[in-house]
Amino acid sequence: VDEAADYETILVTQYGPALVVTVNRPRALNALARQVVAELLDLTNRLAETLPSADEAEPGEWACRGVIVTGTGEKAFVAGADIREMSGMTPEQAEAYARDMHQVTLNLEALPVPVIAAVNGFALGGGCELAMACDFIYASANAGFGQPEVSLGLVPGFGGSVRLQQRVGVGIARELIMTGRRIDADEALRIGLVNRVFDDQAALLEAARATVGEVAGQAPTAVANAKATLNAVAHRSVADGLEIEAASFRTAFTTEDSRVGRDAFLAKESASFPGR
Ligand code: CAA
Repeated sequence: VDEAADYETILVTQYGPALVVTVNRPRALNALARQVVAELLDLTNRLAETLPSADEAEPGEWACRGVIVTGTGEKAFVAGADIREMSGMTPEQAEAYARDMHQVTLNLEALPVPVIAAVNGFALGGGCELAMACDFIYASANAGFGQPEVSLGLVPGFGGSVRLQQRVGVGIARELIMTGRRIDADEALRIGLVNRVFDDQAALLEAARATVGEVAGQAPTAVANAKATLNAVAHRSVADGLEIEAASFRTAFTTEDSRVGRDAFLAKESASFPGR
């Protein structure tokens, strides 16, 4: 993403195969002001255009094998929607704000590489919702999660009503949303919102990058296909999901990656995937 330097409220940095996107408004605890949402929208639209699709990749196009979303500083990942800005919004503007952020979350889900939330502090309201739009969540020990909208007379607006129930189940999601209660990293781990908890921010980011490194050793088309299949089967019946999986499995057999992977296994060699 060449023009990444144009952004003012997000930082975009490539570390080997990992693209790290950092929400960078530390004075407002990285709250998602409209400018942040606009920049995230632009970036994710651009990534959708630049990252190869599983069936159209040219060799060498898979420079990015995973995206890590995080926040600046050790206090907050993202402390939510920007409450100061929202206090001046009409209902129509608030809806447009939410719909733009919905598109950001859909764009992240549609990327052909895994997106990891590295939650380095508070992930409240829109922050928790941004994290839940990622494929999975790692957290530092000082992280805190919650959907405190009811304390502001609001309801979750960036996808929390949908994604929290999917992530942690109906009962826990409803309790968290209707109480607005905040939970710590250990409880987030216990309820399955978070995959892993790390001592500090440095260990968190290192682990997220190591996971992207692990993904980078796998067949690019297969990872993209797996993510697309997981997206497509979610919330389908078992029978419908198996239909989708069968088609994806068949598609995998059309890729050079699958030929290379199987041949390497049988030759007892490690695979060097062409990415198509
Ligand atoms: N929007 C705008 N500014 C915010 C903010 C937010 N969501 N969260 C924090 N800030 C600002 C504070 O106003 C403060 O600014 P000033 O120094 O100019 O006063 C600065 O960040 C530091 O915050 P605090 O002084 O409050 O820090 P703290 O350590 O005392 O508390 C906190 C930290 C518990 C995270 C607290 O800041 C907080 O409760 N923030 C709001 C969390 C929240 O309610 N988020 C949900 C927003 S609604 C939403 O997200 C709707 C949706 O679903 C789309």
